[in-house]
Amino acid sequence: MSDRKIVIFDTTLRDGEQSPGASMNIPEKLEVAQMLSALGVDVIEAGFPVVSPGDFESVQKIAGVVKGSSVCALARCKDRDIEAAWEAIKGAERPRIHVFLATSPIHREYKLRMTKEQVLENTAHFVKKAVSLCPDIEFSAEDASRTEIDFLCEVVEVAIRAGAKTVNIPDTVGYAIPNQFAEYIRALKTNVPNIDEAIISVHCHNDLGLAMANSMAAIEAGAGQVECTINGLGERAGNCALEEVVMALKTRHEYFKAYTDVVTRRLVPASCLVSGITGLDVPRNKAIVGRNAFAHESGIHQDGMLKNSMTYEIMRPEDVGFQKTDLVLGKHSGRAALNDKVTTLGYSLDQDQLNKLFEEFKVLTDRKKEIYDADIRALVQQILLKEVTNVSWTLESYSSTSATGKKPTTSIKLRRGDFVVETQSEMTTGDGPVDGIFLAICQLTGLDLKCREYRVHSVSVGHDAQGKVDVVIEFNGQEFRGQATSTDCIEASIMAFLDAVNRIAA
Ligand code: KIV
Ligand code: ZN
Repeated sequence: MSDRKIVIFDTTLRDGEQSPGASMNIPEKLEVAQMLSALGVDVIEAGFPVVSPGDFESVQKIAGVVKGSSVCALARCKDRDIEAAWEAIKGAERPRIHVFLATSPIHREYKLRMTKEQVLENTAHFVKKAVSLCPDIEFSAEDASRTEIDFLCEVVEVAIRAGAKTVNIPDTVGYAIPNQFAEYIRALKTNVPNIDEAIISVHCHNDLGLAMANSMAAIEAGAGQVECTINGLGERAGNCALEEVVMALKTRHEYFKAYTDVVTRRLVPASCLVSGITGLDVPRNKAIVGRNAFAHESGIHQDGMLKNSMTYEIMRPEDVGFQKTDLVLGKHSGRAALNDKVTTLGYSLDQDQLNKLFEEFKVLTDRKKEIYDADIRALVQQILLKEVTNVSWTLESYSSTSATGKKPTTSIKLRRGDFVVETQSEMTTGDGPVDGIFLAICQLTGLDLKCREYRVHSVSVGHDAQGKVDVVIEFNGQEFRGQATSTDCIEASIMAFLDAVNRIAA
């Protein structure tokens, strides 16, 4: 029997964006969509168009630019949802509508107030409606893992008869256990007479930490599509992580006899881009893309690694986008070396972006002797992020002092187009340098802001490492993220606050 292809359906832009704190603006979503397409995912779930004009617009824009991957829009079993979904994706090279309806007793009784018969009728009716508009329809039985298996089989049969090409079995609340979930998939394969006319998909949430295990068990039982997100983003505890499924299938190919079309060396850049855009850090020990995923600390492990890396490494770091030699470039490195590094890190930048990167790189080499992969990634991300954020306020110059027993002083000069403003006298109101710059920015921009989060961490190693600052500020009851990187943490803090201010302006 030849190997099976597993369809990778990415929902970072829909379920992932439902993670608290992960909302993205339209240019950011476009950047992520293009990255997903270059990564080689088969289906990009771009959003839920009926939810808001912003969601509609972002799905429509993504549909207009993505080539190769299918672009999918989510819709409830409602006329207006399905019509909005189609309007938003009809310009896509490969459009898909994803229609869903809950099937479990608790959802039928309390949320939908529908009988089993009504669920079956609605499934047939709305899948047919979607089929009348779009050639590729996916149907999801929401909360499938808590649905009576006989009824789930009936629903799936009806959806396929109505024209669904993919039937998705979500573990909506992360309740399933691998063996039991695999049993569900096997039951569908055995009891649904027309099951061969559709691909079985799974969509697992991570409430019990079992999203990945459930997805793999389902693949083993015959599922042909996995729904997942970069870094495992998603509602509550998140969804199954794309990088984990992809690397499990690649690493244990002899076991699963299945493959995906994902370009695995783009996984780390994809993870960095999503974490950079959302401001949600990847835990150091996160499988595949965490900073420690390939770090060996114990002497016994290091000794084994030196003798043969296969002793303690089941995957090669370079296969997921980490580089073998981390210390890369320096003051004397030229354009060719930098461009080559960018390509090996998995980014595809255009000439303009490469020129900007080279300028920033030269500035950094004046400040810092040794440039690591993480530094290059941070520079690339700054450039990509600047392109997607409407840069309105920029920093011209600043000075800040603080000393034991003395009040900190801050003065800042900002530019907005041709308009330059600076603090009139040294500010002394802050209780430290960061508070001082924050208050100065409020004064200069005239905005009444509250600082909700402030985090700083080093991007690479060494005393001269760059610091990355992530902030969340509140304006008019709404939260805005900002981030920036610099070898000077105060400068990075000012730029991170300005990034957030620019998002308000945008
Ligand atoms: O978790 C879920 O059930 C969903 C559906 C809309 C597929 O996200
Ligand atoms: Zn979900």
